[in-house]
Amino acid sequence: MKGIILAGGSGSRLAPLTQAFSKQLLPIFDKPMIYYPLSVLMLAGIREVLIISTDSDKLLFHSMLGDGSNYGISIEYATQDAPNGIAEAFLIGESFIGNDPVSLILGDNIFFGYQFGDTLKDAANLSDGALIFTTIVNDPSSFGVVELCENGDVISLEEKPTSPKSNFAATGLYFYDNSVIDITKALEPSNRGELEITDVNLQYLAAKKLKAIQLGRGFAWLDTGTQEALLAAGEFVHTLEKRQGLKIACLEEIAFNNDWISSETVLKQHHKYKNSPYGEYLIQLIK
Ligand code: TTP
Repeated sequence: MKGIILAGGSGSRLAPLTQAFSKQLLPIFDKPMIYYPLSVLMLAGIREVLIISTDSDKLLFHSMLGDGSNYGISIEYATQDAPNGIAEAFLIGESFIGNDPVSLILGDNIFFGYQFGDTLKDAANLSDGALIFTTIVNDPSSFGVVELCENGDVISLEEKPTSPKSNFAATGLYFYDNSVIDITKALEPSNRGELEITDVNLQYLAAKKLKAIQLGRGFAWLDTGTQEALLAAGEFVHTLEKRQGLKIACLEEIAFNNDWISSETVLKQHHKYKNSPYGEYLIQLIK
């Protein structure tokens, strides 16, 4: 399973924060936003990652995360010239994906919940069809809305409907078999000129190959596209980390627990960041 983080977009709702660089480089409390979606892919056991961003941000992401070896993974970088839609990730990433299945996560989505790692590892075993994750929201008409049967099968999927059929929103995390590339190639841009991820999912639904996992009560799915949401996400991470003394989305911790990096690498990262609480946390991992 390959992993793609889509971290382009214009971030216009966050202007002027996003005047000079991508929102995915902004902080969510103690680490850059992109750490959170990257941690999700790593928790799924995915070690080959493609980060798609604007051309100018590519260098910044590279100087932040390098080739991924500090986290026991490989990271490649690619450009999306304009926000032409989420599904364009599969066209930009075609050669990276090769013949493998692929997971896509949006660069501004944060997931946090008990035993999520186990759910992700199961999801990463997918070899046929598509899997999306849904969660209850109080304003479904702002999202892709998923109507589900009692057994969790998807009945319908609508992008930002005026009369939503349920309170379940599709989150920005998706797992697909390799046919996602051909499905995307056959798509037409929507009225807003984008290759829509909902249209990809509708193709899988029509083929009866779309499954949804419901992230239950108590699960946090946050997106960070507005000033309010950005602040709320930072406060959420701060509150949990302070209470538990455990970090959310510490990449070195996930890599070390997965046996992907040695204690020497953790120590090296500790020295690099040793004046910050993040750096101090790293030394605890190997003590
Ligand atoms: P959005 O929040 O829909 O768009 P945006 O990031 O450009 O922000 P704004 O609406 O404030 O202008 O995007 C959701 C996520 O998907 C975000 O991480 C950016 C990413 N994205 C792309 O990288 N390319 C795209 O073509 C689209 C539509 C989104």
